[in-house]
Amino acid sequence: MGPNSVQATAHRLLVFVLLLLGSCPEVAVGAVAPRQNTSPLTRERLSLNAGWRFQRFTSNPDNLSYSKLKAWILPSASSYIKDASSRALRPAGQPTNVTYAQATFDDKSWDALNLPHDWAVKGPFYTGSNAVIGGGMGRLPIQGVGWYRKKFTLTSTDQGKGIFLEVDGAMSYVMVWLNGNFVGGWPYGYASFQLDLTSYVQQGDNQLAIRLENAVDSSRFYPGAGIYRNVWLTKVSTTHVQYHGTWISSRQVSEESATLDLVVQVENTGSASQTDLQIATDIHVFQGGKIGEKVGQFPTAKVQVGSAKTASVNSSVTLSNPRLWGPKPSQTPNLYVAVTRVLSNNQTIDEYTTRFGIRSVQYTADGVKVNGERIYLQGVCQHHDLGSIGSAFIVSAAKRQLEMLQEMGSNAVRTSHNPPAPELLDLADEMGFLILDEIFDTWNSGKRTNDFHLIFPDWHEADLRSFIRRDRNHPSVVMWSYGNEVAEQRSSSGANTARMLQDILHEEDPTRLGTIAMDNATPTSAITSVVDIIGLNYQGEGRGTGQPTFPNFRSAFPNKMIFSTESSSGISTRGTYLFPVTSSNSATEDDTPGNGGDANNSYVSSYDLYAVSWGASPDKVFVSQDKYPYVGGEFVWTGWDYIGEPTPYDSSRSSYFGIIDLAGFPKDRYYLYQSRWNPTVRMAHILPHWNWPERVGLVTPVHVFSSADKAELFLNGVSQGVVNKKAPSDYRFRWDKVTYQPGKLEVVTYKNGSFWANATVATTGDATQLKLSSYKNRDSIRGDGNDLAFISVGVSDKDGNVVPRTDPSISFSVQGPGEIVSTDNGNPTDFVPFPSKERKAFGGLALAIVRATGESGTITVTATSKGLTTGTFTLKVV
Ligand code: GAL
Repeated sequence: MGPNSVQATAHRLLVFVLLLLGSCPEVAVGAVAPRQNTSPLTRERLSLNAGWRFQRFTSNPDNLSYSKLKAWILPSASSYIKDASSRALRPAGQPTNVTYAQATFDDKSWDALNLPHDWAVKGPFYTGSNAVIGGGMGRLPIQGVGWYRKKFTLTSTDQGKGIFLEVDGAMSYVMVWLNGNFVGGWPYGYASFQLDLTSYVQQGDNQLAIRLENAVDSSRFYPGAGIYRNVWLTKVSTTHVQYHGTWISSRQVSEESATLDLVVQVENTGSASQTDLQIATDIHVFQGGKIGEKVGQFPTAKVQVGSAKTASVNSSVTLSNPRLWGPKPSQTPNLYVAVTRVLSNNQTIDEYTTRFGIRSVQYTADGVKVNGERIYLQGVCQHHDLGSIGSAFIVSAAKRQLEMLQEMGSNAVRTSHNPPAPELLDLADEMGFLILDEIFDTWNSGKRTNDFHLIFPDWHEADLRSFIRRDRNHPSVVMWSYGNEVAEQRSSSGANTARMLQDILHEEDPTRLGTIAMDNATPTSAITSVVDIIGLNYQGEGRGTGQPTFPNFRSAFPNKMIFSTESSSGISTRGTYLFPVTSSNSATEDDTPGNGGDANNSYVSSYDLYAVSWGASPDKVFVSQDKYPYVGGEFVWTGWDYIGEPTPYDSSRSSYFGIIDLAGFPKDRYYLYQSRWNPTVRMAHILPHWNWPERVGLVTPVHVFSSADKAELFLNGVSQGVVNKKAPSDYRFRWDKVTYQPGKLEVVTYKNGSFWANATVATTGDATQLKLSSYKNRDSIRGDGNDLAFISVGVSDKDGNVVPRTDPSISFSVQGPGEIVSTDNGNPTDFVPFPSKERKAFGGLALAIVRATGESGTITVTATSKGLTTGTFTLKVV
């Protein structure tokens, strides 16, 4: 089974949570609390993830298209269009009769599945140079039309309520029908949106039908396919807090006091005016996953809202001794929850919760300050897929990504190049990451034939406003990015578009600033004076052999913050080392000896000195970041490998850019970043491995990453010399003349004259066994369907050392109440479909992702391979 089934019991969990909400004053809501909820008396927000029927069609099955139904879809965005005369009105009647939308249509032969669901991730991969979906988009079958159908039931107690559908993300060109009636839609596949079902619902069964469509050549990377995030059904009084209708910001923030400003948008979708409404909002601490003690309240406000109207209510309060939210590790990510009640004639008719944090942000010419402390951005760019489970958003998989990045010392993530799942921002809030929240990869000019540029003119305003309203309560969101390397960077029309988008952003959120990622705008390009913050892709630190442009921008805009929205684009294949090794600190990768490429095998050397021609090695980026200390930091391209964009080998399936590979195994440069970003970790990391029978007597450079300042390397006890790091230009210890002999490498490092850390790498014996381990040594898994266990296999010698160049095929199986969701090995050239239970190791490692199917008991994961001792790992379902 694929990720379709990963949330099999999520619905049950939600019901359980709702029961708790009804009965306890303190609400246990798990690691990631719902962002908005709910007393069942006044508002129900029910997961619609379970029990769908699905069919994918590779050719158009229904003669529908976005352009045919555009007039009916555009009105879904009307509430986000500021100019009333530009709001689309729904045409009369129904667009057309659609078979798959009818309750009478028999969908029994369609696939049964649960959301979130990525229809493409199970493959198979397309291979070859003329593939319908090529390397850029990940060679997975995203294209075509997907129909999803599900029934839900309403009872007499639902009568008179407003009934809303909320989709957190579906790829793409969503169209929604209820009981055969067209409701609305939303084309941008990364957007979250709500549709009002009220006029189409009936008591008893209701048939929901959702059509998606993905074009070929619609993205530069893997977009995923299907309803890949959560879907909700909200039942609420017709007078209620609007979707994403609260906005809490803080000012005059200090440890002693902070003033909070609250805006509540109240919507009346009923037929009668509401003349006696009160809006009351209490403030609670949010601690240990719970809504805790009440610590304040906003003044209660009165409001009237006419039928089919909205009204906004503003209030402010000053809180003493606020517990501030701040990024880790220097600060603590404290959170609060506002509980807003709408009262009519003193009766609560809606209750809506908003998680938020109290913190100040300043954007200075020397970088960003949070609560007065300058935070150097040690960021990574991340695409939205989660490796072998594809784009289906599973919190535990995203959490693992963030945890590994945080342990490396990263404190910031850029959501390149699209709005992330809402839960990613919840995680960032809880874990203390800063987020550069990005919305668009293109504006009016496209990068691919069928990408977002086709709908930018009609949808940019609604997409941008809805994105900001969704995300602006998250304290982790520190900046907005409204474009990545847009083609219009150097034109005056591009500057006008930037101004228009940035003005919208300021209207929706006057507390944060905006940027775009500029790879070729110059200090004199009109757009550079428009953007609040100068975000540079690659050019800042000097791409290839080029010179850094930071100083040019600095002298033209001495008061603007400057940082690298995108840096490095270093490339490597984990555990793969090619000789000779460049003597430079950065080289453009190609297939000439010394430049890191192996076109025959589609590998890139993991000495981690090689980058694409428009990028630079991590070391070279550090040199210029340090040379220009006013630069606010960097966002490395990328933290994790992702599906698609397998530069430089388009024949592959997934990227080479990640600091961590697609399966979650760190590449060597993970430790290079850790040595710089998390320097208190007592660590020394040696590369390469030491299994080179064909290199006896040959020069085989040894590099070490550590935050130490001095190191001595020994080969079989013989010193290879002492190396001192010569700051500010050395970020690694290098012994480039070591002559290979099998045996043991040992490095001993020192900092400020004292021993710091040592490490060894030895030639291993032959592989004899498979050794299994679990991510973070976890030996239990929640049975709620939303938890995943990440089980690694090391192909090991008799002493338990991973044998680096032995890559046998491994068979995985599971006994007990669990299943294997997917397997991987981080090799970008592996075309075995992700759900396969057979996977070759790569660099001696492989991964199986396991989920519990719901029953209690223990799950035993077994890995076997011919000639090797079988390995097992046991997980208790809790
Ligand atoms: C950048 C682009 C990213 C990615 C990267 C690869 O120019 O913004 O999306 O394509 O290059 O190096």
